[in-house]
Amino acid sequence: MLEKFQPVPPDPILGLGQLFAADTRGGKIDLGVGVFKDAAGNTPIMSAVKKAEMVLHESQTTKTYKGLGGDEAFRDSMRELVLGDAVPADRVATIQTPGGTGAIRQLYEAIKKINGEATLWLSDPTWPSHIGIARHMGMPMRSYSYFDGASSSVDFDAMMHDLADVKPQDVVMLHGCCHNPTGANLDAAQWKAVTDLLLARGAIPFVDIAYQGFGDGLDADAAGLRAMAARVPEMLIAASCSKNFGLYRDRVGCAMAICENAAQHDVVSRNLAVLNRLNYSFAPDHGAALVAIILGDRDLRAEWETELGEMRDTMLSIRQSLADELRRQCNTDRFDFIAAHRGMFSRLGLDKDSVEALRDQHAMYVVGDSRINIAGLSGGRHEPFAAAVAKVLAI
Ligand code: LMR
Repeated sequence: MLEKFQPVPPDPILGLGQLFAADTRGGKIDLGVGVFKDAAGNTPIMSAVKKAEMVLHESQTTKTYKGLGGDEAFRDSMRELVLGDAVPADRVATIQTPGGTGAIRQLYEAIKKINGEATLWLSDPTWPSHIGIARHMGMPMRSYSYFDGASSSVDFDAMMHDLADVKPQDVVMLHGCCHNPTGANLDAAQWKAVTDLLLARGAIPFVDIAYQGFGDGLDADAAGLRAMAARVPEMLIAASCSKNFGLYRDRVGCAMAICENAAQHDVVSRNLAVLNRLNYSFAPDHGAALVAIILGDRDLRAEWETELGEMRDTMLSIRQSLADELRRQCNTDRFDFIAAHRGMFSRLGLDKDSVEALRDQHAMYVVGDSRINIAGLSGGRHEPFAAAVAKVLAI
């Protein structure tokens, strides 16, 4: 049987990490996978997380199973973190999932189970796993225009033009903030216009929010999502704690389904919990327990918010420094957009040859579509990177 497996191409993001690890050149820079890095190039454990681990270590008395939907305190805290008071709590069915990816997978499962005919609309471009998982599951998909490569900004007219084709009950995936891979985000008026359109078409928004707090702040980053949630009858949300709590490998996330009314809540919750049972029974507990401790404790929460703010400020300042340095070294304003973008990523707009030259000649590892992880440039690494980009462009 197993001989039928064919060799698989490397993952477009994770495969880069393997190449980077094997590279023995000094001064190499990894701008691939989206993990925060400090000035020394490390991905530290947040101090609020370390403290929560001590609390958990002291207070946990059993490792027995929890409910299929996960930890209740975690779910409640996450609902409040993401949605604020945009929607009454009794309309939001939530399950704990293994990371934000697990939430996407479970919500795709829910869509497929309820309405296998629904088309899933994804932004062009989007995070490759949005497409990969849907393709693996055989879901009907379409893409909508999102990014104008020439101006490196959202092409909102093209987006609305494409979304005019959305059918009732179709599902439209949006990035809650910090669009991955472009870093170009919708403003408040655009969120409102998309909400109007989805309401008019009878389509269901699905918001993936994996970087809350990495753009402009915890509330600011959720503002578009919340304004939409307050107006639509139904909505799906995948939330991740990988980045904003730095809990990447602990796999912490949740899937939320906003129901039209509170009467649906229990049935929807139970169905989502059954999907957990069918796929892996229980989401991992450790990281979610830490998030519940942090969000439920005034001091730890304040400490976490301060640390998150420092990470955000680091990325914002790298954005400005990189834009300035590229302007200086490349003698062009074509990269000025980097300072205006938000979140972990920007797409530089370099062609395949330039991306390869950055890797082969300068040991700078950028994703194939020229996406860079802004945090990979902390510690002054934006300077050698800008110099390498200038050399590559001069070829
Ligand atoms: C990324 O886009 O780099 C992150 O979301 C990590 C991943 O799993 O791809």
